[in-house]
Amino acid sequence: MGGEGCWLLILAALGGILREGEFYEGYDETSGVAMKHDKGQSDSVESRHLRSCEAPVEEWKAEPVALVIFGGAGDLGKRMLLPTLFTLYREKKLSADSCIVGAGRREMSDEEYRGLVRRSLDDFRREVAGQDDVEAFCRRVFYLRADVRSEETYKQLCRRIAQISSESPIEGLIYYLAVPSSLIQPIIEGLFGRGLCAGSLEPKVVIEKPFGSDKASALRLNELILKHLKESQVYRIDHYLGKETVQNILFFRFGNSIFEPLWNRRYIDHVQITVAEDIGIESRGEFYDTAGVVRDIVQNHIMQLIGFVAMEPPSGFEANLVRDEKVKVFRAIRPMSDEYIDSFMVRGQYGPGEIGGEAVCGYRDERNVAGGSNTPTFFAGKFLIDNWRWANVPFYVRTGKRLSRRVTEICVVFKQPPLRLLGRTCDIIEPNSLVLSIQPTEEMSLQLNVKKPGGGNEPYAINMNFDYAKSFEVKTRPAYERLLLDCLNGDLTLFARSDEVEAMWEVVDPIVSRWEIASGRDFPNYDAGSDGPRESGALMKADGRKWRRI
Ligand code: BG6
Repeated sequence: MGGEGCWLLILAALGGILREGEFYEGYDETSGVAMKHDKGQSDSVESRHLRSCEAPVEEWKAEPVALVIFGGAGDLGKRMLLPTLFTLYREKKLSADSCIVGAGRREMSDEEYRGLVRRSLDDFRREVAGQDDVEAFCRRVFYLRADVRSEETYKQLCRRIAQISSESPIEGLIYYLAVPSSLIQPIIEGLFGRGLCAGSLEPKVVIEKPFGSDKASALRLNELILKHLKESQVYRIDHYLGKETVQNILFFRFGNSIFEPLWNRRYIDHVQITVAEDIGIESRGEFYDTAGVVRDIVQNHIMQLIGFVAMEPPSGFEANLVRDEKVKVFRAIRPMSDEYIDSFMVRGQYGPGEIGGEAVCGYRDERNVAGGSNTPTFFAGKFLIDNWRWANVPFYVRTGKRLSRRVTEICVVFKQPPLRLLGRTCDIIEPNSLVLSIQPTEEMSLQLNVKKPGGGNEPYAINMNFDYAKSFEVKTRPAYERLLLDCLNGDLTLFARSDEVEAMWEVVDPIVSRWEIASGRDFPNYDAGSDGPRESGALMKADGRKWRRI
């Protein structure tokens, strides 16, 4: 045994015979630095820590559920929900005795709906699966033609569920509302208003975004829902929260002690958030032309990203602790006057252009879009958070359809060093910045300045990178899988609470109303395939800053 190992043994033996409260000389194995410990104190801290970490993770057992999807034959159902449920079924996270009831406007038999399910799995499922699995899954799928405003629909639905569960009992009931916002009220009233489906099971209700179309409608919806259900039964879904890299913002911030001390107005110059898409509105003209970019993306996905970057450390990871902290951020965002909106918010609408070498039409020529539509497809703006941590640190946000590239990222730009000792004669030092890339690559990169080799004092910017795909071999779970799993499991952390949704609407309502009143006279004002309207760059330039390249 070498001298060092010998010393360690002696120290361990001494540690064993020292009484509580006595000091002993220790040795930090990682740094090799000799340390002085207060034994009593370090033991108590350590054992508390170990107790909480070593608690056995409870194996969660999938219980058979009935899952009713309103809008089960719609686009989201076909592309996302059915393939996701199939994956969970194959992984046995969705119990094999569960049943899925698709409810939709179209007249269809169970068999015809199963045909639609098979096609949806062929087109969109994530994994290779045998036909036996597909058929076994399809046997647990049923269909109900639904007129959501008719009492008869809900009576039939209850009979259907009762009949299915008499053959194989269910232990949970989930209603998934994959429908436009305007149908939520009749469905909630139909399901719960007349007590038709009241049974011993406490149902969960999943509601797609956008939740309402402004704060007033969100309040009304919440009031209606909470008349019949407890908050803990309501899963307001925003798929951005299910993205692994979005959750990683919290791990990055609160799992490392080196960044949090810098995470405030003293060291951060500004934050940039980009959600750029190269796709257009696809087949969603009807929805999009009444919603627009602010309701579609800013009110939910972007607000959630701001929430995660700006929140105070929660005292735990439980749903309400995390949600409390996000709500505080939304409530601290500076309310916007018309003048503020006119000065610091930019809207755009795409005209025709070229993406990936292909010509694409302008927004106004998309299907189900009004010829002279005033709907914005691009947004850029500056948000200020009036709290102690973020006073005077602008959060610049941009998002748009038909931009040059698909990229979602958060860039935290740090302040310049207080003295420009290096490269004094011109402005050549790039500020440190931290980029959290959410898609298409899942990466984190820290930009630092080093000395360029050679004579003189020339700084050179380098990147320290962490790439999810390279570091972890497992593929990350797609957002919907994670969220459906959490819903089956009863975990609300990644779903929005009523006050959270209302607070997010409160931030964006003034923008939506201002732009609905004052139309965008210069629309279309950016070419498909570009980086958005010129005013977006001007917004940054006016503050002496610039956007990262898309
Ligand atoms: C949806 C929006 O919520 O998010 C769409 O309604 C948008 O318009 C989509 O295309 C973007 O999601 P992702 O995961 O591709 O960034």
